[in-house]
Amino acid sequence: MLFRGIFLAHILALTAAVPHSKQAVDFFNPTANGGSMLDDASGGSSSSDLGEPLNVIVSGLSSPAVLTDGGFLNFAKAIGFSTECFGIHLGGPQTANLGDGNGYVNQTVELRQDFGDPNVGTCLESLIGGNHLRVYRQNGSQANSGALFLAVSQEENVTEGHTIAPDGYNVGRDLLVANAVGSTSFNGVSYSTTAQNLTGLLPAGSNGVNHDIATDGITTLITVTIV
Ligand SMILES: *[C@@H]1O[C@H](CO)[C@@H](O)[C@H](O)[C@H]1NC(C)=O
Ligand SMILES: *[C@@H]1O[C@H](CO)[C@@H](O)[C@H](O)[C@H]1NC(C)=O
Ligand SMILES: *[C@@H]1O[C@H](CO)[C@@H](O)[C@H](O)[C@H]1NC(C)=O
Ligand SMILES: *[C@@H]1O[C@H](CO)[C@@H](O)[C@H](O)[C@H]1NC(C)=O
Repeated sequence: MLFRGIFLAHILALTAAVPHSKQAVDFFNPTANGGSMLDDASGGSSSSDLGEPLNVIVSGLSSPAVLTDGGFLNFAKAIGFSTECFGIHLGGPQTANLGDGNGYVNQTVELRQDFGDPNVGTCLESLIGGNHLRVYRQNGSQANSGALFLAVSQEENVTEGHTIAPDGYNVGRDLLVANAVGSTSFNGVSYSTTAQNLTGLLPAGSNGVNHDIATDGITTLITVTIV
């Protein structure tokens, strides 16, 4: 018993000594600590700049591997996204402040719909439009959920200047979620995904939204479990 007590105390001390340990929550509301549910499309660090809505959150309660860069990329491929078509990168990186103490940070990755071919399909997306997402990780010490906040949008084709389609934020979100929910797999990893719509995080409408495209104000929380 004594040995076990000492052992536990040792573990607790070790845990307390890790300053940035991830907490077991879905996510923290960025606006509760100076952040925003809109990213900054100019890549700057001001909440008064126009931005894209963070309209999908991958829960911090998802399997830990899904929340890593490589793990999320594999999941994204399972639901029809891939890394951007080499060479055809349109637009600069955007930034977001997730209220975790890190301030505005660059997107970690930008992915495009791959149209069934994870290698060359994204080149098609660049030409014909399609679904598109940016990823931000909430991992600063003041709100370390490990959750991934996604700005998802449906884009028009390159002849249309590659802008967001009408209603492109709602459409992009719903398309991504529809592809994700249920059972999916890629490269030998199988996922089970559930979704829940949240209101009250994002305001409905177009206030502050890039391209003046109104949204319904819904953010969908998805929880991705490796099975
Ligand atoms: C964000 O990306 C821009 C453009 O690539 C780069 O100039 C800047 O240094 C990056 N900022 C951080 C904090 O990495
Ligand atoms: C691009 O979109 C416009 C408007 O929707 C359409 O007229 C045009 O045919 C499209 N071009 C391609 C290559 O899909
Ligand atoms: C937090 O996430 C960023 C962006 O992915 C990454 O560069 C950084 O290393 C992470 N920080 C910690 C403490 O894990
Ligand atoms: C979330 O809201 C969208 C838009 O109203 C709807 O299409 C979708 O079915 C909803 N999803 C869930 C999980 O309730």
